[in-house]
Amino acid sequence: MTHPQVRPPIGTVVVLIPTYNERENLPLIVARLRGAVPEADVLVLDDGSPDGTGAVADKLAAEDDHVSVLHRERKEGLGAAYLAGFASALDKGYDVLVEMDADGSHQPEQLRSLLGALADADVVLGSRWVRGGSVVNWPIHRKVLSLGGNVYTRVLLGVPIGDATGGFRAYRASALRAMDLHDVASQGYCFQVDLVWRAVRRGLTVVEVPITFVEREIGDSKMSQGIVGESLRNVTAWGARYRIGQVRSLFRREPRWHELNG
Ligand code: GDD
Ligand code: MN
Repeated sequence: MTHPQVRPPIGTVVVLIPTYNERENLPLIVARLRGAVPEADVLVLDDGSPDGTGAVADKLAAEDDHVSVLHRERKEGLGAAYLAGFASALDKGYDVLVEMDADGSHQPEQLRSLLGALADADVVLGSRWVRGGSVVNWPIHRKVLSLGGNVYTRVLLGVPIGDATGGFRAYRASALRAMDLHDVASQGYCFQVDLVWRAVRRGLTVVEVPITFVEREIGDSKMSQGIVGESLRNVTAWGARYRIGQVRSLFRREPRWHELNG
């Protein structure tokens, strides 16, 4: 018999939005988010965008008490930006922390579905690659990269997750605290896989809900070969360590029943 864990209600929510050169996109996404989930706060994580996104974010914050900005000096990657944002939001005492892209790929109108699923979970992943999930306007090479990356992750890490690389998620603060984020080294989008892997190994409940990912119409993706390379190296290293541990445990000799019982 399973004993369903009793989790506290959702509580206060903050949506973290990392930005690098998203001057035009940011006001649009913040307006949609404020309309869709008015009770949630917004924390923009800008890495000194050369296009002036930081100043746009400051203006949004000046106009709306629910919006604030964390300015970082230079571009250090998505992972570093989120780690700084998590530290700040946990410090402020939020109960739920949400990750969302600034470019309109994640639909603020679907955030309620993520938050709803958090009632019975520690971490909720918005998923493109489960039934009901989809991707709109992605070129074939991005689909192949995302699906291939997810299959590789599933095979190496053995996690039953369809979309471990996505960036629209909700975490309970208690889950992030349990995940020991101080030694996360992933800088790029591999950060997303890193966090799923940590959550699964801590025995946290991770669930997926379908989302519609719509490719951005304004600005450019910051995905690069370096980001793909880091993911491949890290997932391979974690997988090798995990699989070697599994093989070792097969050979670790357990005492036989008659040795224990005379
Ligand atoms: N602060 C900061 N620093 N923000 C960044 C950085 C950075 O170094 N790099 C990217 N961002 C921001 C972008 O401005 C955007 O808001 C968000 O992170 C996602 O970046 P995109 O460049 O638009 O990502 P994508 O559409 O190619 O990738 C999507 O798919 C990836 C793979 O599935 C995203 O959903 C990623 O989160 C996901 O890992
Ligand atoms: Mn994007």
